[in-house]
Order: sequence, then structure tokens, then C-alpha cells
Amino acid sequence: MLGYVVNSDQIEEDCVNRTPNEWLLYCRAGFEADLGAEIADRAARAGATGEVVTPTPNAGFVRWRTAEGAANAIHRDIRLDSLVFARQSLVAFEPLMLDRQDRLGAIVSLVNQSGWNFESVWHETPDTNEGKSLVRLSKSLSRPLESALKKGGGLRRKAGGRRLHLFWLSGESVQIGMSFPGNRSEHPGGVLRLRHPSDAPSRSTLKLEEAWHVFIPRDRWEERLADGMQAVDLGAAPGGWTYQLVRKQMFVYAIDNGPMDKGLMATGQVEHLREDGFVWEPPYRLDWLVCDIVDKPMRVIDMVERWLVKRWCREAIFNLKLPMKKRWEEVNRCLARLEHELGARHIAATVRCKHLYHDREEVTVHVELHD
Ligand SMILES: C[S@@+](CC[C@H](N)C(=O)[O-])C[C@H]1O[C@@H](n2cnc3c(N)ncnc32)[C@H](O)[C@@H]1O
Repeated sequence: MLGYVVNSDQIEEDCVNRTPNEWLLYCRAGFEADLGAEIADRAARAGATGEVVTPTPNAGFVRWRTAEGAANAIHRDIRLDSLVFARQSLVAFEPLMLDRQDRLGAIVSLVNQSGWNFESVWHETPDTNEGKSLVRLSKSLSRPLESALKKGGGLRRKAGGRRLHLFWLSGESVQIGMSFPGNRSEHPGGVLRLRHPSDAPSRSTLKLEEAWHVFIPRDRWEERLADGMQAVDLGAAPGGWTYQLVRKQMFVYAIDNGPMDKGLMATGQVEHLREDGFVWEPPYRLDWLVCDIVDKPMRVIDMVERWLVKRWCREAIFNLKLPMKKRWEEVNRCLARLEHELGARHIAATVRCKHLYHDREEVTVHVELHD
């Protein structure tokens, strides 16, 4: 790993690159190659000069280094919400190697000399077992670091909402990054933690709940996830996603050959149809289509596309299962196809896709049709 061993004195000697020339992105461990391929593609399309630093397998993050200068432009131009595999997006300095006797000195010097200041400091670690073992260390440094930064002016009450991120890679290595309001995850580690409802029929329930948090602004929930709406859940059994729809007081067509949870059926809000989700047609226009069927991603895209073209629903959330190696290539191919087909038919829609925290080998797509 590229880095510099410094202590406060060495920093005075100017051996650290004080330009934040890296773009640091967090991801689920095991998806570094996918995120690396995604940002390489996006950066090339944006005409940015720089390169992905070869990702460490299972590290839980990916770095991109500019050919020259700060990484602010690429970070701003390729927004976090437009990226599939990234959980967090930061402008960062190169990783800093620390002296165990004086970890704070090097960090404070780098921040002070960079000229940047911040309103808050977050300590984070990769979402790996090794990362978890660093949490205690980072917590113990939190208070003394904040007071040292305040003294030097690096931490202040008003600093444009900027947040300083200390991404701990080991006991002797940290990558210092920064984030800006409006283009970052507001959750530590970029992970939205949700409590599993004890009466939900399956753990998958959290995938749909997280998708709503990610794709639908909170102030639109009442209107877009409203009482009395009509929905279909394709591949519904045992009912984790249907549970979320029912909780929002919707009426649900649950399409699956498998058995549905008895408690859900007792609500009277669910009609269970043992039919093929790829061919079932709704009796009238519905508000929501959700689909968690395990099948080839392109087959799911074809089916959802038919629903959207026929305007059988207003919004859709569906998963694309990705058992293959080149996951970014497959997702990109599917999204390009969907966007192309909708565009060719002049159907105005917003399409977004995210590898959610509760997703495993799959991504979640959201489509909102505009009238
Ligand atoms: C991953 S599970 C769905 C879990 C569900 N979302 C939950 O939260 O409980 C996938 C389901 O898709 C169903 N399925 C597979 N192919 C289907 C098809 N062609 N039509 C309808 N359901 C299908 C399976 O029977 C299975 O119950």
C-alpha cells in the first residue's frame, strides 16, 4: 500500500503530499473489483485523468488517484447517488503511516497544513473483521484528536458542513478524507442500519425497507408510500417484502407458487396468486411493482420493462441477482438496456441502482415513471 511514514517533524520537512489527490469509496468487502471497474468506466466517460489504485481483495474500499491535483472535481462530477457499488464517497489524502507513539501528531499536522477545516470528525473502519477490531482504538483517539484539531483551527463550528473522515486501515495507518453536504452518505461507514421487525416473515424484508430509505426522500413517503395504494410483489413468498407493503397499509397481489406467511394473509390486505411472475398481468394500473425473483438479470429487466412500457405501475423496485464474476459489466448492460428501451419509447423515468447494505450478491433498482 502506498503511504508515508511520518511524525510531526517529518511533516515540517514537507514529505507528505498535502493535496487531497485521491477519491476514496467504501463498499461491501468482496466487491472491490466491481466498484473499481465501475469508477474506471465512469471516470473514463467523464474524461478524468487518473487511475484506480489496484484494489486489495476483500478490503471494503477502493481508491482512485488523480494524475495531478486534487480529487474534488471527479468526486463532485460523479455523485455518490449515481454509483452502484459505492457506499460512501470522499476526497482523500494518500494513506498516512503513523508512529504508534504519536498517532495524533501526524494527523493534526496534515489537517492543519492542508488548509482545510471541518465541522465534525468521524472515525470509520472498513466493513471487515479486521476493521471491526480497530473501532476501540479509533474511539480512544476521538476526544484528544478533536481538541487538538480545535486548537489548530481544523475543527470549528462553521465550516460549510464539511466532515473529516478518519478511515482506519490498521493501528499504524489511516486514510484521511473529507465529505461535503449533499453528496455523501449521512450514515457512518455508509451503512444504514435498520432493526429487523420481529414479526416479519423473512430477513429479506430489510432490503425493501432500505431501498425506500435510499431511493425515496423522506418528505415524499406519505405521498408515494400511501395508505390504500395497490401493489404487486412478484416472487413474494414467504412475504418479507409484502410485509413492508402491508405495513404501509397497501393492498398487495402476492405472486408466488410458494406459501405465504399466515399472519400476513390474515390481514386481509394480501391476495396470494400461485402464478408465474414473468407472465402475470394486473387487472388495472397499480401503484407499485416490487420483485425479488431469483433469475437471470436480463430476464427480470425484460419483464419490468414490459410493465413500465404498458404503464402497469407508477414505481418499481426490483433486485438483479449477480452470481457472476463481472458484476459491474452485467449491471451496466442491464441498466443501459432499460434506459435505452424507455428512451426509445419516449417514456420519462428516473432509474437508479444501488448495492444496498442488506443486498448480498445482488443490486436493487428503482424506477419512477414521470407522467
Ligand atoms: C428470494 S425469494 C423472495 C423472498 C421475499 N422477497 C421475501 O422477502 O420473503 C424468491 C421467490 O421467488 C419465487 N419465484 C421464483 N420464480 C418465480 C416466478 N417465475 N414467478 C413467481 N415467483 C417466482 C420463489 O418461489 C421464491 O419464493
